[in-house]
Amino acid sequence: MDSSFPTVSELVAEARRLYGEEFGGEAPRVAACAPGRVNLIGEHTDYNQGLVLPMALPLVTVVVGSQTSGQDVTVVTTTKDADEPRRVNFSLPSDGSPLAPGSPKWANYVKGVIQHHRAPPVPGFKAVISSSVPLGGGLSSSASLEVGVYTFLQQLKQDDGDKVSKALACQQAEHTHAGVPCGIMDQFVSVLGREGHALLIDCRSLEATPVPLTDPNLVILITNSNVKHSLTGSEYPTRRRQCEEAASILGKESLRDATMKDLEEARARLDDVTYNRARHVIEEIERTVHAAEALKRGAYQEFGQLMVESHNSLRDLYEVSCRELDELVSAAMEVEGVFGSRMTGGGFGGCTVTLLQASATDRAILHIQERYSGTPTFYVTTPSDGARALSLL
Ligand code: GLA
Repeated sequence: MDSSFPTVSELVAEARRLYGEEFGGEAPRVAACAPGRVNLIGEHTDYNQGLVLPMALPLVTVVVGSQTSGQDVTVVTTTKDADEPRRVNFSLPSDGSPLAPGSPKWANYVKGVIQHHRAPPVPGFKAVISSSVPLGGGLSSSASLEVGVYTFLQQLKQDDGDKVSKALACQQAEHTHAGVPCGIMDQFVSVLGREGHALLIDCRSLEATPVPLTDPNLVILITNSNVKHSLTGSEYPTRRRQCEEAASILGKESLRDATMKDLEEARARLDDVTYNRARHVIEEIERTVHAAEALKRGAYQEFGQLMVESHNSLRDLYEVSCRELDELVSAAMEVEGVFGSRMTGGGFGGCTVTLLQASATDRAILHIQERYSGTPTFYVTTPSDGARALSLL
């Protein structure tokens, strides 16, 4: 059963090799990496100023490269996407005018990060990117790319080192250059993730409380459905708008300030869909607080129960799940030793996250494989560190 993925050093070696090939045998001078994430609970709450409980993954995006003397940028990716070129060249505007998004799409993340870098202007550079975060799999491949590029650029041009501001700059890159009005969770945990801990992030105050997650008898299993429904693009901003509308009808700045009592009192003024969206968010924020407490106490059954409630709410009230994710969750829940399972990330495909006894891992993987109508990929993961510079010695 293969649930392995390349290590950071293997990704660096791959990127160095390609750098030599692409740039006439030269060696890159600096390197950085930034992780993808899995969210344990607290879904679609970040842009409502709520709480989330993600952890950084050992799946990372690596960037290696060197500063150049001019204004030119050349970036090559090792990721093969049949539809898009793997190499991009562009010039940094010398008059400070904005760097427009364009093609290939993956390069927009790089351009966005250059645009929002906190110590402009950044110099020209050449770089190679390699990643073990599955693309579009709901594990924040885009945030890991943004934060990886930002961390790489910090070595060419230092900023003040403020980590929360760095996460916010990367979120801006996603807003302006990828057109996704995402919350702060993915970039935040990719910057500030901590080995052996999940992070309880308050997306209003931008404060994070590390929650230890090192019990050797516990495993966090990620299952990639390997499907991605095209709805993702339009549905996310729609959900965001519906939440804002609900908050405004309730007379609140955001749904973070609303209680179920407020919602019930306003029931007559809300259509069913808006009511359901708001109910998911209000209850999910409560579940997240409760789940973080349960995790601190080692109450895994309780945590698992909350994960399943979260999934059901995402499926029925928020309507961001899909048949494949529901199948994966049901299959996981049939296995003895599984505490809980749910879809993770934006939805409409991507991955599920399952919390289980370590001794049940092989059994769970076999059972899910047998029951799932598609072809899943598995990752047995541990909470890892956030973005960091890497030594090339
Ligand atoms: C995506 C966004 C996040 C968050 C999740 C849903 O991953 O990038 O900001 O909103 O969806 O919880």
